[in-house]
Amino acid sequence: TPLSHIRNFSIIAHIDHGKSTLADRLIQLCGGLTEREMKEQVLDSMDIERERGITIKAQTVRLDYRAKDGQLYELNLIDTPGHVDFAYEVNRSLAACEGSLLVVDATQGVEAQTLANVYQALENDHEVVPVLNKIDLPAAEPERVREQIEDVIGLDASDAVEISAKTGLGVEDVLEAIVTRLPPPQGNPDAPLKAMLVDSWYDAYLGVVVLVRIIDGTLRKGQRIRLMSTGAGYQVDRCGIFRPKQEMRDALGPGEIGFFTAAIKEVADTRVGDTVTDEKRPATEPLPGFQPAQPVVFCGLFPVDSGDFEDLREAVGKLRLNDASFEYEMETSAALGFGFRCGFLGLLHLEIIRERLEREFNIDLIATAPSVVYQVYLTDGTMVELHNPADMPEPQKIERIEEPWIEANILVPDEHLGAVLKLCEDRRGRQKTLTYAGSRAMIVYDLPLNEVVFDFYDRLKSVTRGYASFDYHITDYEPGDLVKMSMLVNAEPVDALSVIVHRARAEARGRAMVEKLKDLIPRHMFKIPIQAAIGGKVIARETISALRKDVTAKCYGGDITRKRKLLEKQKAGKKKMRSFGKVDIPQEAFIAALKMD
Ligand code: GTP
Repeated sequence: TPLSHIRNFSIIAHIDHGKSTLADRLIQLCGGLTEREMKEQVLDSMDIERERGITIKAQTVRLDYRAKDGQLYELNLIDTPGHVDFAYEVNRSLAACEGSLLVVDATQGVEAQTLANVYQALENDHEVVPVLNKIDLPAAEPERVREQIEDVIGLDASDAVEISAKTGLGVEDVLEAIVTRLPPPQGNPDAPLKAMLVDSWYDAYLGVVVLVRIIDGTLRKGQRIRLMSTGAGYQVDRCGIFRPKQEMRDALGPGEIGFFTAAIKEVADTRVGDTVTDEKRPATEPLPGFQPAQPVVFCGLFPVDSGDFEDLREAVGKLRLNDASFEYEMETSAALGFGFRCGFLGLLHLEIIRERLEREFNIDLIATAPSVVYQVYLTDGTMVELHNPADMPEPQKIERIEEPWIEANILVPDEHLGAVLKLCEDRRGRQKTLTYAGSRAMIVYDLPLNEVVFDFYDRLKSVTRGYASFDYHITDYEPGDLVKMSMLVNAEPVDALSVIVHRARAEARGRAMVEKLKDLIPRHMFKIPIQAAIGGKVIARETISALRKDVTAKCYGGDITRKRKLLEKQKAGKKKMRSFGKVDIPQEAFIAALKMD
């Protein structure tokens, strides 16, 4: 296909505004799949994605479209992940195309997530076509949303396309807009090969599959290539495109988006944003903007049943095969035994991995408090990165501790503004700007990541009854008055419950934690003190009173079958508990203790 007949685009949309539905429609209209093959939402291929309605892995599809001008066009749709944790992947997907469709639900309007992605698209010099979706719904207000797009984003929305991705109404117009309004790619077929690595994943049949956008030159079957960030060399053994089914090709040329395989062992060897070049005739400069993804949130994952440790080892290994941004290393906890310290791109990423371990691999897990990465400057002049509160150096060796800060963008209807400001202030936030778009406030706050990482998003949703939208990126490290708070259950420190907190917030946090633990730990035959302490100093305390022996005896005495049933039930319940000294702590206590309502 000549460059003038190629269009590369992505779809930008807030969660639930209809990105997947529109993508499916486009595939259907261009004949990529028959009706029968057209399973619902083909682009979201993983189960958990489908269940949660989010897209994790970027995928791409090539469409053939005969436009009204009679010409046949090659359209490449790059699917972008829809969550803040995957911001860098989104950025690289956008960098691989020349334009995007901005899909906005005409019953909802612009959201924070949409904003962040549109700005990234504009930074990548995209032509952006606004698409107003769900106009089949009576609540749709295309006029109001059009104005909002102009006011909030500053994008001309006068020729926004109005569609219903669900019924198919107006979807042809979207295809026409792609052809007539988005620019074709540019590239030099004679220059040395330069391709951007957009995504990669592990396929059971093909091994590691690499998705690339060819910028210059040609990628061929049999060619020796090199990844510029590592210098590693490979031989291409297959290349092709997705429609969305794979189709093998002998070569991919400038402007094209497709995949190759090259006997690459691990997904981790292929970093998103890297430049693929020819080994014999390499490009002189890599593509700009490469930065390897860094995990920002860490937590410990331990099997509830220590006998499951080997299964857990195998499971994390398997997950890592397909997810280079997930890191793990072995960890031992005095309280929890053997497990893994794991690093994630963000909280959603953590949740997804934890859930997959429990569901797909059937391992009951205890997850310890998520922690950000602290930079601890020691009095001897060195700096250590702290991923685990348990590894905190002695206070007298510490010169200062720095913590990551984020810039958060929050969009919220006027009536919930007060609650959001209070939440941000409570979390040590510093307000930067407050502007209005119609009846919605747009707030920019600087916040310490450590205050956001745990339950900020849940709290934000609950104080705004789901009406706020939120997006963030890490900006900087700043010194903070941070201390390690330990939790003692029955006078024994439980390392898996220790957290790093700001000194000013320690007491409130400690009190909340001991109160939670008091509710979550069942009564035993003896009194159990629960204490929060900094250094040796107790700052909060609760006591769980003892069970009275005669009460249990009276309840369960006599009826032997009932007693047996009860014992079995207790056994099952025990599986989800861990013993600390003489005390059984239920699995959910580890996470619940940290929630601050
Ligand atoms: P994520 O994958 O979570 O980012 O969501 P998405 O943006 O891909 O949204 P998706 O396509 O899954 O659509 C969200 C919901 O809106 C689904 O229940 C769709 O059936 C519905 N939906 C999408 N487009 C339309 C439309 O034009 N009209 C109506 N009535 N519903 C629609």
